[in-house]
Amino acid sequence: MSGIKIKGTGRSLPERILTNGELAQTVDTSDEWIVSRTGIRERRICTKESHTGLCAAAAQNALEHAGILPEQIGVCIVATMTPDTLVPSAACTMQKALGLSCDTVCFDLNAACTGFLYALHTAECLLAAAPKKFGLVIGADLFSRVLDWSDRSTCILFGDGAGAAVIEWRAEWPSAGAVLGCAGNSELLRCPLQNGYLTMEGQRVFKFALEAVPWCIDRVLERQGLTAEDVDFFVFHQANARIIDLAAKKYRIPPEKYCKNIERFGNTSAASIPIVLSELEETGRLSSGNRVLLVGFGGGLTWGGALVEIA
Ligand code: UT7
Repeated sequence: MSGIKIKGTGRSLPERILTNGELAQTVDTSDEWIVSRTGIRERRICTKESHTGLCAAAAQNALEHAGILPEQIGVCIVATMTPDTLVPSAACTMQKALGLSCDTVCFDLNAACTGFLYALHTAECLLAAAPKKFGLVIGADLFSRVLDWSDRSTCILFGDGAGAAVIEWRAEWPSAGAVLGCAGNSELLRCPLQNGYLTMEGQRVFKFALEAVPWCIDRVLERQGLTAEDVDFFVFHQANARIIDLAAKKYRIPPEKYCKNIERFGNTSAASIPIVLSELEETGRLSSGNRVLLVGFGGGLTWGGALVEIA
């Protein structure tokens, strides 16, 4: 035994709401098409906010909820593919913005939409060896930066945002037992660093997601020796409401044990899982001892699942 629990979560979303109706004025789409195919009604887009600002606000929020001081953090990882700068990393920027100690391990990690799961697992492993046993895991993406706003197949899907979780590692706590996967694929979902935008073969990624989600759930349950009924809450990456509903149906997950916020935020990539966690914490839907199964998937291709307890 040895592992992590979630102590507190936070989120930060830009102010500007971009509705389907507004998008329908610039590309050949409609509110009806977007809602029926994705579940999205609106998303948040940065106009004046920065990646750094969203990360810092989400992290502050998480630290406050956890009741943890910045100097207690031993590891800070930002999962992102759209930071303000490649150097310094977003995590190094957080060291200064939040007042983390100089001996805090700070770095960014890119696993696209699965980034939060990859970062959570990495933090758990590092905390086992770190002198300070609290970790700060941030998921943040500003896809408005990398979208082709004239491509209706992608620009309607994504939104900007940041979410964060403060975790604690203890020798007597169970591991989150993350299962992570990757299959190198440069066709289905791609975002070049220069001269280009994010492109996606939506239908093929949809099919991949329909296999990845049950694979993650089955492996996590198997590893923990649990069944779906033993899980208190399922938190899915918010890429498409249909993917979430199909998973809920397959595992007979009752409505009170999962949620969708894709309607309000679209797909926020690495931020989607911690944003859901933060909304759940704020609305009192999670309590101490709850077992939460997290599932993510996305570009890379990457996928992952983990079971974390609420402290
Ligand atoms: O987080 C990373 C992982 N990402 C995902 O998991 C995304 C997975 N994929 C999806 O969610 C869905 O595939 C989409 C929402 C992206 C697309 O839905 P779809 O039901 O797979 O539609 P499609 O791509 O098969 O397109 C159907 C039709 C096409 O027209 P034709 O060829 O049938 O005439 C598209 O050109 O819909 C058209 N279309 C649109 N129509 C109106 C594509 N985008 C739009 C649009 N508005 N925005």
